[in-house]
Amino acid sequence: MRRAEPPAEKLVLKPGNMLYPVPAVLVTCRRGAEDNILTISWTGTVCTNPPMLSISVRPERHSYPMLRETGVFAVNLPTRALARAVDFCGVTSGRDIDKFETLRLTKVPASAIDAPLVRECPVSIECRVRQVIELGSHHLFLASVEAVDVDRSLMDAKGKLRLEHADLLCYNHGSYCVASRPFGKFGFSVEKKKAKRPARNRTR
Ligand SMILES: Cc1cc2nc3c(=O)[nH]c(=O)nc-3n(C[C@H](O)[C@H](O)[C@H](O)COP(=O)(O)O)c2cc1C
Repeated sequence: MRRAEPPAEKLVLKPGNMLYPVPAVLVTCRRGAEDNILTISWTGTVCTNPPMLSISVRPERHSYPMLRETGVFAVNLPTRALARAVDFCGVTSGRDIDKFETLRLTKVPASAIDAPLVRECPVSIECRVRQVIELGSHHLFLASVEAVDVDRSLMDAKGKLRLEHADLLCYNHGSYCVASRPFGKFGFSVEKKKAKRPARNRTR
């Protein structure tokens, strides 16, 4: 098959991971008396109903056998304020240190699984592993969402979760960034403008 020439302004790179930005999350797990945290960016929502997400983990991580043996973990969403902790949990191993203790992060019990949640994270997603697919460098853990824990301070007066106020952390090709400057709502591109009411009706 003849390959088309790319336009002059485009450069074709060799195949690689280039789906950015992605979340940078703190995954927590527990095996017996040991609790651990590792940073994960290869994560994503994979199904709405039933709610499911995935994390991809290298088998050489200290957390890997913990995840495989227990079949549960929590995905904790960190804020900009936790960027240092996120980086630290991604460059140090539970083999050598207790990351909770070193970072003075607070453990809170989960409601549906036996793994600690990170109190400092405004959102924690409790997960149960349903399938592990050994892809290559990383093994994909497909997991069901068993419960979601959110900070009460993120709820508005109408009981709506205002995640856009959470200053959540992302990872963009080697750099950390935040995703908290909303400028359009779901469906805004096709929304009809509300008709203006005549001035005389605007007294109340
Ligand atoms: C921003 C960032 C993202 C990372 N994403 C992943 C990932 O998706 N999968 C993975 O296996 N390791 C990932 N890592 C590396 C692990 O977090 C790191 O190897 C960690 O030390 C493992 O901890 P553990 O040995 O205590 O399990 C990431 C690290 C950073 C800093």
